[in-house]
Amino acid sequence: MKKLIAILSLALLPLTGFSSGGGGVHLESADIDLTDEAALQRGAKYFVNYCQGCHSMKYFRYENMQDFGLTKGQIEQNLIFGDHKVGELMTTGMSALDAEAWFATAVPDLTLTARLKHGGADWIYTYLKSFYVDESRPFGVNNVVFPNVGMPHVLMELQGVQEATIETDEHGNNHVTGLKLVKPGRMSAEEYDGVARDLATFMAHVAEPMKLERQRLGIWVMLFLLVFFVVSILLKKEFWKDVH
Ligand code: HEC
Repeated sequence: MKKLIAILSLALLPLTGFSSGGGGVHLESADIDLTDEAALQRGAKYFVNYCQGCHSMKYFRYENMQDFGLTKGQIEQNLIFGDHKVGELMTTGMSALDAEAWFATAVPDLTLTARLKHGGADWIYTYLKSFYVDESRPFGVNNVVFPNVGMPHVLMELQGVQEATIETDEHGNNHVTGLKLVKPGRMSAEEYDGVARDLATFMAHVAEPMKLERQRLGIWVMLFLLVFFVVSILLKKEFWKDVH
């Protein structure tokens, strides 16, 4: 019995990690809905406008945006800048060399980020909301879930400027205990949350475009198993009814 409990708790161990992501930092729930086509379309629009200048999604093609209700024409007209074709992959205009020179680090591809980051869409959502002023950093900002981040706060004009309350613990480590908006941006807090949520939704879709399809299939498989179960019970009864 003890052994069984030990095995069970080992098996469940990975689950316990999910509650706190990003090294113990509290993540906010993005509460995304992957079936929300309007949110996916807005997320794609924000991505090409605010992110693709630096980041690629080099395993995702523009034309795949048809999966959430856009036509090829709409994609070509509204979501492709430069000389890209609708069938091409979403690369970035920035070369790796420029990136290295400007950011002293590689700019990561974002195709799979929603799957690679512990916390997934919640991590992205919290990340986009957690930039704060830190003059010691090259771009004047730091981030709660990505300490010493090398990315500028590209959505600052929308969100505004946040300052952090920082407490130092007994080991001399600094912890951000709160964020305060000290200079409003163009958007209200709710509107900005919407932008962060839409981007997280789009990135979650791109990281796993088959997820919805899998869930739909899963339901049919369960239904099939259920029907099959009933049929086998009936069959069993039929076979055994004369045997006593
Ligand atoms: C000016 C260039 C630039 C723009 C524009 C930009 N980023 Fe970044 N981003 C970076 C750099 C550089 C890093 C790497 C930071 C590091 O490693 O310290 C990064 C890192 C990230 C990461 C962490 C990825 C990982 O694998 O750790 C995410 C998520 C991200 N960016 C999302 C976005 C989103 C969403 C947008 C658009 C709203 C955006 N970025 C716009 C430069 C940019």
